[in-house]
Amino acid sequence: MIICKTTHILKQTIAKAKNKDIIGFVPTMGALHQGHLTLINESKQKATLTVCSIFVNPTQFNDKKDFEKYPITLEQDIFLLAQAGCDILFLPHVQEVYPDGLQKLSYYPLDYLEEILEGKYRKGHFQGVCNVVEKLLKMVEPSILFLGQKDYQQCMVITKLVQLMQWNNKLQINIVPTIRETSGLAMSSRNARLSDTAKQQATAIYTALQFIQNNIKHTPIALLVEQASKILLDAGFEKIDYVSICRADNLLPVEVYQPTENYVALIAAFINNVRLIDNLLLSNNR
Ligand code: PAF
Repeated sequence: MIICKTTHILKQTIAKAKNKDIIGFVPTMGALHQGHLTLINESKQKATLTVCSIFVNPTQFNDKKDFEKYPITLEQDIFLLAQAGCDILFLPHVQEVYPDGLQKLSYYPLDYLEEILEGKYRKGHFQGVCNVVEKLLKMVEPSILFLGQKDYQQCMVITKLVQLMQWNNKLQINIVPTIRETSGLAMSSRNARLSDTAKQQATAIYTALQFIQNNIKHTPIALLVEQASKILLDAGFEKIDYVSICRADNLLPVEVYQPTENYVALIAAFINNVRLIDNLLLSNNR
């Protein structure tokens, strides 16, 4: 695996690579786990050259403390990526990504997508995500972008970004299902900040999502949300940002269940002072 720290070297390395016909790109913020490695694996199957980036993007953290506490495990990440067969690791410094500083950011008209769910609780988060992803895409110029379904709303925002940039024709987005521990807990870099007890309690997110999935056909939405929230609070979650049931294609909230529609249930809640998110597609055919 070749490690590139500047855009210049990255572009040169890609240009020289023999197998650059289909470039697969996996953008990450490091602290890699099996979820990320599954994205690398998908890229290895579908692309001829796999590029991964590790960059903890300061502009997407609305909470400075969250940024400072973000886990960094670079040595292990490099080992895992090399073992997984990643071809190129892009490891830029902040000045490389933001040469004009962190204040001069682009604005993306994301519409209601940045007002709801994560956007409501993490003001400016998706603008930061779009800023960094646009820059990384211009640097790597991939044919396929691999994203994890765990960040469901982020997948939708990046899909919108790609439309706004008019890259639909040259860039395919491949969304890979969430990888879970055997307990059901969705893999996340933030899990590293949980105690063993909290990790066990945190499985209640998946229990609550499954509860929604099993009961959506015959329970009013408001009651489902109330009962799922109770599952979280009873398990020891300190605070719930949202338990929401939305249309899977546009994330608009659902009031009445329609058997012909596809839905997604999404949760964001705090345990052990760590904010966890997860989601589950509720449609019959998934
Ligand atoms: O999902 C992430 O890890 C980040 O939001 C991303 C897409 C790498 C952008 O910084």
